[in-house]
This record gives sequence, structure tokens and C-alpha cells, in this order.
Amino acid sequence: KETDTDMYYTVVAQTGETQIMPGAKTKTWGYNTSLLGKTIILKRGKHIHITLKNKLPELTTFHWHGLEVQGDIDGGCHSPIYPGESKTINFICNQPAAFLWLHAHPCPSTAEQVWHGLATGVVVTDQHKASLPIPKQYGVDDIPLVLQDRKFHQNNQWDYQADYDPDGVQGPTPMINGTVNPYFDVTTQKVRFRLLDGANRREWRLHFSDDLEFTQIAGDGSLLPHPVKFTHMLITCAERAEIIVDFGKYKPGDVVTLFSDDTPIVKFRIHSFKPDHSKLPYDLIDLKKDEPETTKDTPVHKVVMSGMDEQVEMNGKKFNMQRIDSKQKLGNAEIWDVSNSNDKVGGMIHPYHMHGVQFQVLSRNGHDPYPNEHGLKDTVSVNPGEHVRLKVWYTQPGIFMYHCHIIEHEDGGMMAQIKVD
Ligand code: C2O
Ligand code: CU
Ligand code: CU
Repeated sequence: KETDTDMYYTVVAQTGETQIMPGAKTKTWGYNTSLLGKTIILKRGKHIHITLKNKLPELTTFHWHGLEVQGDIDGGCHSPIYPGESKTINFICNQPAAFLWLHAHPCPSTAEQVWHGLATGVVVTDQHKASLPIPKQYGVDDIPLVLQDRKFHQNNQWDYQADYDPDGVQGPTPMINGTVNPYFDVTTQKVRFRLLDGANRREWRLHFSDDLEFTQIAGDGSLLPHPVKFTHMLITCAERAEIIVDFGKYKPGDVVTLFSDDTPIVKFRIHSFKPDHSKLPYDLIDLKKDEPETTKDTPVHKVVMSGMDEQVEMNGKKFNMQRIDSKQKLGNAEIWDVSNSNDKVGGMIHPYHMHGVQFQVLSRNGHDPYPNEHGLKDTVSVNPGEHVRLKVWYTQPGIFMYHCHIIEHEDGGMMAQIKVD
């Protein structure tokens, strides 16, 4: 329900069965549906009221990944909703248009609940982005692609315990928007895809057949200042990327394939479409005007992600919900120096995420960040041996967690929390 000033939603976490593979249905979990969920749309400037209901056999939380809301609304481990219970949250949506997501976050079973299917896209819209010449017919030429992987056992069931790996559970079968071997019918020359790496541990190395070039226009939390062209793109756990693909050189009947490494993950069947000569402006957004500045006295927070498997830690400690690990002043820009102490050879990438905030990436090992990291972000990949510097300013008070987004690393204790006031 929506009025001029308010939007109302009910989100029910529930169990179900989903026809994913031929044969038996898979036991799955989802939001308002049996698996994953329909994208939730929030309009900037509106008062949002969301009723959260738990119809699962165990407690859960509803975490708004990327949303700038107070700590008690953010849905981290501190906000359990027990089976059969519900709760309403209210907040004003006030951040730039972006593709965010909702996922379960009960510590330490975030990973298992997300594996069961508790994850769905959340889109924030605003007038600035709506005014740009980009594809915007939701479901036609504006398409979310939630990238996940699963392992199907006997009778097409998932078995989290059997597949458990403290460095992140993965499966050989790509599952895109909850389907396997998906295809998409291309009926417009240009299509916008909102990519979300919703996998527990997998990073995706994306490229199209023919090395078709595509243009990234937005990252986790905002448009990029300028569009960036790619033929190959890496997306790590919890990161998002909005890309525009121009299928102009293909003819009806052609099939274009999206791969991750050598694995085909989505097929695009080309239909006839009208020519589209629209041009993206070079300047997509001016973010700097709203950002507080740092000075030479700005505090520097250090975060070291160390270890693998059961040994994972953050700053030499495992997560403890009763402990506040750092503090920051509301509205103040502070520097975060985040490093990955794994060996350069054979170590894992840790995708570092902070709740309740969108930050700027300042540098990687003292050099410029990647070209598609100049927009607002809430998750940043930190390579083995690397130091990444962030400028972080919270717009909302409360207690927030920050962690590696390989979800088993998070559940395993590579997580800490900050108090903002
Ligand atoms: Cu996607 Cu603790 O978050
Ligand atoms: Cu989060
Ligand atoms: Cu990690």
C-alpha cells in the first residue's frame, strides 16, 4: 500500500517447496514466497512501515543490507524475531537510489538461513536516477539478477550440514533468481541488469560471449560518478553492480551467454527490437557535495581480517555480541584501514561489509581503487595481503556490525560491532 507520503509492506519469512530442478521440488525458504522474494521498492523521501513476520520453525532477523537506518531497525543479531512473532519497523528512506538487499542475519546461523533462500532485492528509487536515460521498465529492460550457487542432493534437496565448509558453502550449480539454466528474452536493444552476489562464498568473474562490452552505471549504494565500461567484471559476496548491456549488434534468433569463468550462467535470446540511440551522460551523479571532509586529525580505525576456516578473526578476536569494538561520532567522517592478513598466494578475498552506512573507497594499497569503486559502497573486496582505506560517515545512530561477507566467516566470528552516537 502506498500514499503520497507513506509506503506499507508486510514481509513474511516462510518455508515452502520450489520447483527448481526437473523432478522433486526442493524444500526452500523465502520472503512472502517459497524461495527468495519479490523485489521490495522503497521511494526516497517516504515514510516506510514494514511489518516483519516469522513463520519459520526457528528465530530469524530481517537485515536491510545497505540501508541507512538506525541500529535497532537494521536487523542484525540484536533484533531476533521468534517463530510466530511479528514486529513493525518505521523509518524514512533517505539515501540515493540503489540496489540493496534483505537477508536473514541471526548469528551464528546467517549462512544457513541465506542458503535456505532468505534473501531478496530491495530497490531504492529517487527522482534524479529516474530522470536519466537508462532502461527503467521493471521486468522488461530493468532486471535483477541474484547470483547464487547450490548443490542438489538426492530428491533435489539442499543439505547445508553435509556441505558445510567453514570457508563458505558452495555448490556446482549456478542458481540465478532462484532458477537453474535460466534464459531471458531480450525485447529491447538495451537492458539494465542489477547484479547481486547473493552467494555464501562464491565470487563471480563475469563476461559475455563475444566479450561483449557492457557499461556499469552503479555500485552498491549509488550511481557511479561516471559510467565505466567492462568486458570482464569481478563481483564478490554481497556486492552489487548495475550494468547496461547493448544488444544492438545481434539479430533475432541469436543467443548471447553470460559466463562466470567458464560456466554459462544465463542465456539471452534475442528478439526483434526498435533501435535505441539514447546516450548516457558522462556525469551520472555528484556525490562529493554531500560528503563530510576528513582532516589530518581524523581518527583512523584499523580492521585486520585474519585466518581461514575455524580460525577466522577480526582484530585478533572472535565476534562477541556483548562487546563494543569501536565507536564513531554520528555524522563525522572517519578513516577505516581494512586489511586482509592472508598470504598473497592461496589466500581468500574477504569482502568487507559495514551495516547501516554507505562509504567511499579511498585507496587500495595506497593506489586508486578500482574504476567502479568511485560510487557509494557498503561492501568492498579486500584481497590477500591488501590494505583498503575507506571514508566512513554514519547518518544514523545505533550499534552496527561489520564483518567479512563470506557468510560462514561472519558466522565463524570474523565480525565486530561499532556504537555510533
Ligand atoms: Cu549483508 Cu551483516 O550483512
Ligand atoms: Cu549488512
Ligand atoms: Cu572472509
